[in-house]
Amino acid sequence: MTKVIAITGKGGTGKTAVSALLIRSLSRKGQFILAVDADADTNLPETLGCESVKTIGEAKEFLQAEITKPRPDNPDMNKESVLKSKVYEIIEEMPGYDLLVMGRPEGSGCYCYVNNLLRGIMDKLIVNYDVVIIDAEAGLEHFSRKIIRDIDDLIVVTDASRRGFRTAERIHELVNELDSKVGKIHVIANKVTDTNHEKLVKLADDLKLNLIGMVPLDPKIEEMDIKGIPLFEITDDSVAAIEVEKIVQKLGF
Ligand SMILES: Nc1ncnc2c1ncn2[C@@H]1O[C@H](COP(=O)(O)OP(=O)(O)O)[C@@H](O)[C@H]1O
Ligand SMILES: [Mg+2]
Repeated sequence: MTKVIAITGKGGTGKTAVSALLIRSLSRKGQFILAVDADADTNLPETLGCESVKTIGEAKEFLQAEITKPRPDNPDMNKESVLKSKVYEIIEEMPGYDLLVMGRPEGSGCYCYVNNLLRGIMDKLIVNYDVVIIDAEAGLEHFSRKIIRDIDDLIVVTDASRRGFRTAERIHELVNELDSKVGKIHVIANKVTDTNHEKLVKLADDLKLNLIGMVPLDPKIEEMDIKGIPLFEITDDSVAAIEVEKIVQKLGF
């Protein structure tokens, strides 16, 4: 069974960094991974060290343009197979994982038909993998459209602050309003310093949040970020990578 893990949270909290570290850890365990960048502000490819440019958004626009033409060039085209081949073209095969970028949000007009086709294609695609890791934006747009139907584990990344935890609490509420099935919801506190451990555990308890890990503020990440080195290449002595390794175990791997 494929395990679908989505990572969400406010911008800047470290969703993409955590996603990249999860992908790194899982790929080293030999898991067959589909990494999905579902943030309109696409930066997972760069963080993983992949120069992918093609997006699902473009594939959708292409099909949408075809079907809304007054006289399609090829009225007999099988729309599902056109979209499917576009989606499969977009998948970037990297050592250790495959990558799929959702891209910009859809333009104006009704995309219900295209989204319906895409949903079916994604369903069939996902089952090929052991695990799907989705770097998602806070609004969870792709989930409200149910492009990816169900999530086993939703991880809310927050900074180590009361306000951040409050936002995590609100995301919990938002998730309850989605009609996607979400198995478990976890919270990761990121960029944690030694001095705020106990306070964060208590805060999570008070807000009834399931704190699955506290990822330290890691000077190695800061250094790699400045030098433009993909986080996927971080070494084993990274304090953040060590904590993510423990989180991966808690997720059942
Ligand atoms: N644990 C960490 N230690 C140090 N820097 C971090 C850590 N996590 C993330 N960062 C840095 O914080 C910034 C925002 O992280 P990013 O993953 O891009 O956030 P998001 O995807 O939520 O917008 C980046 O510059 C990233 O390198
Ligand atoms: Mg990001």
